[in-house]
Amino acid sequence: MFIVFEGIDGTGKSTQVNLLADALRQQGREVVTSKEPTDGPHGTRLRQSADTGRLSPQEELDLFHLDRKEHIASLIKPSLERGAVVILDRYFFSTMAYQGVRGFDPLEIRRINEEFAPLPDHVFILELDLDTALDRIGVRDGEANQFEQRDSLQKCHEVFAALDDDFIHRVDAGQTPEKVHEGVLSHLS
Ligand code: TYD
Repeated sequence: MFIVFEGIDGTGKSTQVNLLADALRQQGREVVTSKEPTDGPHGTRLRQSADTGRLSPQEELDLFHLDRKEHIASLIKPSLERGAVVILDRYFFSTMAYQGVRGFDPLEIRRINEEFAPLPDHVFILELDLDTALDRIGVRDGEANQFEQRDSLQKCHEVFAALDDDFIHRVDAGQTPEKVHEGVLSHLS
């Protein structure tokens, strides 16, 4: 089983990854958790670029794809093949959203990814209103980048909102972590 958590920054994805992993381990399953960007060389370069100056849109897109290819080959595929549950914090739906904001067509990004990236069995989109999300990630009114950030996250939200595959489940991330977790479990049972 391959499960992915998606959502804009501040929605609490990593907390939900851990709660779900613990719950499934208690049922005796082997669970592998991971995230994108990864801690590998491409992912590290992407994270560093947040501080050292953002890469061009094309360089950034290419690096996310390289990072994902390596992630699939080294961890995702081998884990799924031996029967483990894989739970990810972000996958190619984030590329559709975030690199979509940088000018690429989200559907074209999806098409490229589906050529090499296995489809998840379940994708949980954690939904949260923008003000709460900005508050949680520490962007306050009046900060210089507030409008830019708000606009970008709004566009990401719209890309996530447009996904309508059978494997997509939406959960209200404004609730307590325990309630969000219950919502996730209810879709899996
Ligand atoms: P994030 O999950 O916020 O990591 P952390 O909280 O550990 O810094 O991911 C970092 C950023 O990467 C986030 O703003 C979304 C962005 N991102 C993309 O732009 N494209 C992608 O394909 C992925 C997976 C992430």
